[in-house]
Amino acid sequence: VKVNLKDHSYHIIFDRIDQLDQYLNKPQKTKILIISNPKIFRLYGQQLKRSLKYKKYQVFEKNIPAGEIHKTLNTAEQLYSFLIKNRFTRRDLIIALGGGVVGDLSGFVASTYLRGIEYIQIPTTLLAQVDSSVGGKTAVNHQLGKNLIGAFYQPSLVLIDRTTLNTLPKRELSAGLAEVIKYGIIKDKRFFSKLEESLAITNNLLAKCCFIKAKIVEKDEKENNLRMILNFGHTIGHALEAETNYQYYLHGEAVALGMIAATYISNQVGLITEIDLNRIIALIKKAKLPTSINYDYDFHKIKKIMEKDKKISSGQVTFVLIDSIGKTVIRNDISWQLVKDSLRFLKYG
Ligand SMILES: NC(=O)c1ccc[n+]([C@@H]2O[C@H](COP(=O)([O-])OP(=O)(O)OC[C@H]3O[C@@H](n4cnc5c(N)ncnc54)[C@H](O)[C@@H]3O)[C@@H](O)[C@H]2O)c1
Ligand SMILES: [Zn+2]
Repeated sequence: VKVNLKDHSYHIIFDRIDQLDQYLNKPQKTKILIISNPKIFRLYGQQLKRSLKYKKYQVFEKNIPAGEIHKTLNTAEQLYSFLIKNRFTRRDLIIALGGGVVGDLSGFVASTYLRGIEYIQIPTTLLAQVDSSVGGKTAVNHQLGKNLIGAFYQPSLVLIDRTTLNTLPKRELSAGLAEVIKYGIIKDKRFFSKLEESLAITNNLLAKCCFIKAKIVEKDEKENNLRMILNFGHTIGHALEAETNYQYYLHGEAVALGMIAATYISNQVGLITEIDLNRIIALIKKAKLPTSINYDYDFHKIKKIMEKDKKISSGQVTFVLIDSIGKTVIRNDISWQLVKDSLRFLKYG
């Protein structure tokens, strides 16, 4: 899949991790820093390192502890120190080997070290392969909120090795499927129907998702308008994640609930049919994602979070709704009563 952006286009390729060297056109002795975490490096880092060393690159590794809480400026600082001490220049290279946490952090470090050094993404979670590694959004978290510090900075290459998903916990795989289903809902009716037939993860499925995201990013790299449709299900999803202090749901699980809520709202304002609402719920269920809320949420807290959300423009909550499967509508006129109803729908059906 090619991502066409004016002066920084790049390819998303599907191949084995140890084949990466074939796609590099860097001179021998180039320094390469592989950023990963201990578990992923143990599983996939050694083979990558070996294949690059074999091609006479100077390969370094730096593992960061796993988990969202380490996606911080503090961890970035440690990586800057490592790069400076090892005299990395702008001609050298960073490789992010891991999920979205490693990818976002490495991309952010790459965007700022010496005002920008080349980086490559090797995403190893389903979420990273279909979403976070594509599009060039990089970020770290701040105490006051997630992803508040960051940059738009595109990688020079994304390499997807589907077989890395074999070791991914089932729950993480399902969470990634939420974003896969999202692409069908927002952009491609046929793809959605195919998913209803099978949710098996093939290179075709991954490429389709990357293609849909790439086309949207190409038209709106910096999220001025169109890119917003990628936030389908995220307005309420994000509020649910935050309301439970990011301790209860994986991102994709909250997005699954958010997609149902947004579809419900769409139906209530006369957009999508009830039949299609039920198809969406059924597919989410098939992906082993939650379709209902089973605890007592605090609506006022959820409302506050939504009001504070950085994606809100001009005081009104912007909702990505759907007219029919494959077709989105942006609306700023959704009442709080309807938001409340959609949460009740998630709780009581
Ligand atoms: N930049 C973007 O556009 C974008 C989009 C969506 C999400 N994100 C970010 O992505 C992050 C979430 O990413 P994620 O869902 O990949 O989570 P993650 O990076 O935390 O990875 C999830 C877990 O799976 C483990 N893991 C990764 N690959 C594995 C493998 N192949 N086998 C076994 N275990 C493996 C990790 O060690 C980790 O414990 C969040 O920080 C979110 O903000 C960014
Ligand atoms: Zn998401």
